[in-house]
Amino acid sequence: MSSAPRKCLGVGCEKAADSLQCPTCIKLGIKDSFFCSQECFKKSWSEHKALHRSQGNILHHILAPKVVSEPDPATGHFNPFPTFNYTGALRPVYPLSPKRVIPKSIRHPEWSEDGVPKYRAMPGRNKIEILDAKAQDSMRKVCRLAREVLDIAAAAIRPGVTTDYIDEIVHKACIERKSYPSPLNYNHFPKSVCTSPNEVICHGIPDQRVLLDGDILNIDVTLYHEGFHGDLNETYYVGDKAKADPDSVRVVETARECLDLAIKAVKPGVPFREFGNIIEKYAKSKGCSTIRSYCGHGINRLFHCAPNIPHYAKNKTPGEAKPGMTFTIEPMIALGSYRDVTWPDNWTSTTIDGKRTAQFEHTLLVTETGVEILTARMPDSPGGPVSMPAEARETNDRK
Ligand SMILES: *[C@@H]1O[C@H](CO)[C@@H](O)[C@H](O)[C@H]1NC(C)=O
Ligand SMILES: *[C@@H]1O[C@H](CO)[C@@H](O)[C@H](O)[C@H]1NC(C)=O
Ligand SMILES: *[C@@H]1O[C@H](CO)[C@@H](O)[C@H](O)[C@H]1NC(C)=O
Repeated sequence: MSSAPRKCLGVGCEKAADSLQCPTCIKLGIKDSFFCSQECFKKSWSEHKALHRSQGNILHHILAPKVVSEPDPATGHFNPFPTFNYTGALRPVYPLSPKRVIPKSIRHPEWSEDGVPKYRAMPGRNKIEILDAKAQDSMRKVCRLAREVLDIAAAAIRPGVTTDYIDEIVHKACIERKSYPSPLNYNHFPKSVCTSPNEVICHGIPDQRVLLDGDILNIDVTLYHEGFHGDLNETYYVGDKAKADPDSVRVVETARECLDLAIKAVKPGVPFREFGNIIEKYAKSKGCSTIRSYCGHGINRLFHCAPNIPHYAKNKTPGEAKPGMTFTIEPMIALGSYRDVTWPDNWTSTTIDGKRTAQFEHTLLVTETGVEILTARMPDSPGGPVSMPAEARETNDRK
């Protein structure tokens, strides 16, 4: 905008600048870094480069958020936390869609209005409830409905659809079953389902990001129906690329098998701390780690209640399984570190090293002789086990 002649940035040089610009400055977005000649630029280099560090950093801090968070003019999409140090390649893609509404005729949980689950403060909430036959039937019903909704959502997974689209499907399927999607407004969670791709351990918020061939995606569905909650989640492969990626198959199938092994051990008298021993031992044998920050939980008229079920070995959880108890087991298994980092949205929990993670969850009822998987798969449920890609199997055989 100025019409004054540009001055050379060379040290001690008084000449007017030529059109020669410092390429590093261009990259860093530092403007007006012109020199009169290549020689002058070279001569000034050792002093000039200090500018890259100072100006570059300052400019980065001032400009980066603004530049990156400006909505893409074509789509209106933006990253709401542009300065956050993400651990992997995944980014939130905002804006979130408008809040979805559940008709008043469907029974709402107490947090639907103000976002606060009050029972957390209730006395005696550490007591583990034993459900009578009628309550057990109610749990059977809501868990079957939750399975139906998860299957409908899973059938919609394909490269090119957004996680917000999955949320819309879950929301509608809940309404069709006269159920409230329990996550909606639970501690102010903005959506009706959790969608957790790739390095997201859990509690991912459905947004405008499209699923890519090669992603893995956990869908976590909880329904509230006639006063009871039913909760399950599974991890799915998006497209065929993920099924051909040995690491993705290893983490997903290990998580699936960890849950299956733990469930096999459920029967009256088994200590809750035992499940973590089974899960972590198996995960380790597959070169995977076990996330420690999130546990399985009691579930019934309450979304989350006693007992707490850690998934790692040598935990000290007291108590044992008794007939009539309903709780979840939901191992989260990672390819790298078990440590987690939460995004500034206060929900999305990711692995600290950005490596992939997978999870499976069922709601279980302890019976007189063993266990009933209330959220069990149906013969036509989408997803299910995938075998190791042939190439990786061969490599392993050769080892
Ligand atoms: C960002 O995260 C990486 C990986 O965890 C870490 O090495 C780096 O120091 C972090 N940077 C900042 C500015 O926090
Ligand atoms: C699976 O469900 C459990 C129980 O609600 C939850 O704690 C966990 O975070 C869910 N997993 C994911 C990936 O959302
Ligand atoms: C996350 O929690 C912090 C601390 O409680 C709060 O200041 C911040 O506004 C929250 N962020 C969002 C997106 O809700």
